[in-house]
Amino acid sequence: MQGSALINVMTGAARKAARGLLRDFGEVENLQVSKKGPGDFVTAADHRVEKVLVQELKKARPDYGFLLEEGGIIEGADPTVQFVIDPLDGTTNFLHSIPHFAISIGVVKDGEPWAGVIYQPLTDEMFWAEKGKGCFVNERRLRVSARRKMDESVLTTGIPHQGRPEHAKFLRQLKLAMANTAGIRRFGAASLDLAYVAAGRCEGFWEMGLQPWDIAAGIIMVREAGGYVSDLDGSNNMLASGNIIAANDQLHVPLTAMLRSVE
Ligand code: IPD
Ligand code: CA
Ligand code: CA
Repeated sequence: MQGSALINVMTGAARKAARGLLRDFGEVENLQVSKKGPGDFVTAADHRVEKVLVQELKKARPDYGFLLEEGGIIEGADPTVQFVIDPLDGTTNFLHSIPHFAISIGVVKDGEPWAGVIYQPLTDEMFWAEKGKGCFVNERRLRVSARRKMDESVLTTGIPHQGRPEHAKFLRQLKLAMANTAGIRRFGAASLDLAYVAAGRCEGFWEMGLQPWDIAAGIIMVREAGGYVSDLDGSNNMLASGNIIAANDQLHVPLTAMLRSVE
């Protein structure tokens, strides 16, 4: 399946930026054992990716605005549409040479996720979706999983760490999820967690305290693959609150009910 002109622009930018990111990932493995460690190097890699993405996307869509994890807001001539970008989602993995990270580019139109590209360079999986046009990985159309029983489902989540709030609440959520599902995974890149729900690799995902660039692209993917996405309270406020539940069409309601029961 061929994407639209907009999708082609986004996938092209992601592929170009990924070339440098892959080189840098190789370098991180060497830095792991050095005295200085890879910290500053990874921060620089992150900025390099974002710079390439902005350059490429601006060339093709000069009127769009940007919301960038590293660079903040760039106003566009068209105030209704914005690229929302995480140049490196899964930084902690990258920093530790764990091969699970992605470039995430969302398009938000009139405040709603409209299109998205999530590229996992190490597996060469290009996830993409556009409103009304479906969700794909490379050429293959994606559909959320058909599992309808919570006790057969696998969920992904993000565990709050040092410096993040709500540890106690998360543990209460996790306790319920552990008791009711076939398994929980913590992969470390929220964009890919959402892409994996869209791909039917897991049944659902929840996390609190995310940023718009972590989820803008993934939200449209899950929806275009036939799944549902909401805030933890069931509303559509995820981009603003950063709290998100995404799941297949069978399990979104019970999963939301389960997590809402946690104070
Ligand atoms: C992080 C990842 C992680 C999630 C964190 C995010 P970053 O983004 O998506 O899975 O649990 O909350 O901040 O820092 O790697 O871009
Ligand atoms: Ca992120
Ligand atoms: Ca990031």
